[in-house]
Amino acid sequence: MEKTLVLKVDSQKPDLEKIRVAAAIIKRGGLVAFPTETVYGLGADALNSKAVLSLFKAKKRPLDNPPIVHVGNLEDVYKLAEEVPVKAERLMRAFWPGPLTLIFKRSKVVPSVTVAGLDTVAVRMPRHKVALALLRESGKAIAAPSANLAGKPSPTTAEHVLEDLDGRIDAVLDAGPTNIGVESTVLDLTVDPPQLLRPGGTSYEILKEVLGKVNLHPVAVAEEELAMEKARSPGLRHRHYAPKAKVVVVEGELSAMVDKINELVGFYRQKGYEVGVLATDETVDRYKVGVVKSLGSRNNLAVIAKNLFGRLREFDLEGVDVIIAEGVPTRGLGLAVMNRLRKASGYHIVKAF
Ligand code: TXA
Ligand code: MG
Repeated sequence: MEKTLVLKVDSQKPDLEKIRVAAAIIKRGGLVAFPTETVYGLGADALNSKAVLSLFKAKKRPLDNPPIVHVGNLEDVYKLAEEVPVKAERLMRAFWPGPLTLIFKRSKVVPSVTVAGLDTVAVRMPRHKVALALLRESGKAIAAPSANLAGKPSPTTAEHVLEDLDGRIDAVLDAGPTNIGVESTVLDLTVDPPQLLRPGGTSYEILKEVLGKVNLHPVAVAEEELAMEKARSPGLRHRHYAPKAKVVVVEGELSAMVDKINELVGFYRQKGYEVGVLATDETVDRYKVGVVKSLGSRNNLAVIAKNLFGRLREFDLEGVDVIIAEGVPTRGLGLAVMNRLRKASGYHIVKAF
């Protein structure tokens, strides 16, 4: 593969002709990156083992970390899952299409490579019009991990996808920036009460409203690396979301956090590092040196989530060596933001008092 075809489409009214080009690539076993409401995914026919294997290769993804299978209609869920619990049906009615991935016992039609040898499968119906059009036009269930090289921050624009995968995939459907900016919430329904494995675009609070009881997997809220023989969500074991720069997360009360960050900026600059600060609108003026960027207002965690991965990539383009990031509250989308930041830092967390 030498050249990646860029297909520009309108996010609200995708051009059917271009969708058909992309769908034809999926049908013949090729790889197409496409926008979802969370991040861009890299798609392959989920029931074609060869296609899924080439998907792992293109991303340099470890074979033990299975992708999410995306569906464009509910019937496909019943084909992919051995068993669809009543609670899952309630969730599908409440949140699909949308940023919620459900883990089911898998049926025999799903190839082993697609689920990394597990007896479960992750399924979601995305809300983005382009994703739905591609799913429905191809008539396939599409396996799609985030369309980044393994370990990098997930892509929220087609430019991010090309930074990582240009020349490694057949095509990208470019519909501009994605809306939510962090990946879907992953919820395991093979256990009861359901267990949240990865916080994401559907908040823990709202899931509890619908389900009553939801358990948080320790890794979903971890503040340190957890030693686990077999984390329930295999991807949780791997280092993730990391820009080239080293990341340090500072958490605590706002003014103590600002003081601690200024102290760390001085410390790293003295060592000769190019330092970046990931701030918020409320604090951005309190950092006087280094490359300072705001994620948005602390009063709007949705905007912070939307900007997160793009900002991390910008620091890399500007040659920053160390990024010092402010923590944000862990309510709503903030839980997903903090989960990604803590992981990107390799759990290098500094508490400010
Ligand atoms: O928003 C999203 O979820 C995006 C867009 C493209 O849909 N996709 C995404 O895929 O983030 P990926 O592959 O980067 O993350 C999938 C997550 C990983 O943490 C993986 O380990 C977990 O889902 N997962 C997949 N299959 C699983 C399974 N059978 N059991 C538990 N976790 C699973
Ligand atoms: Mg990913």
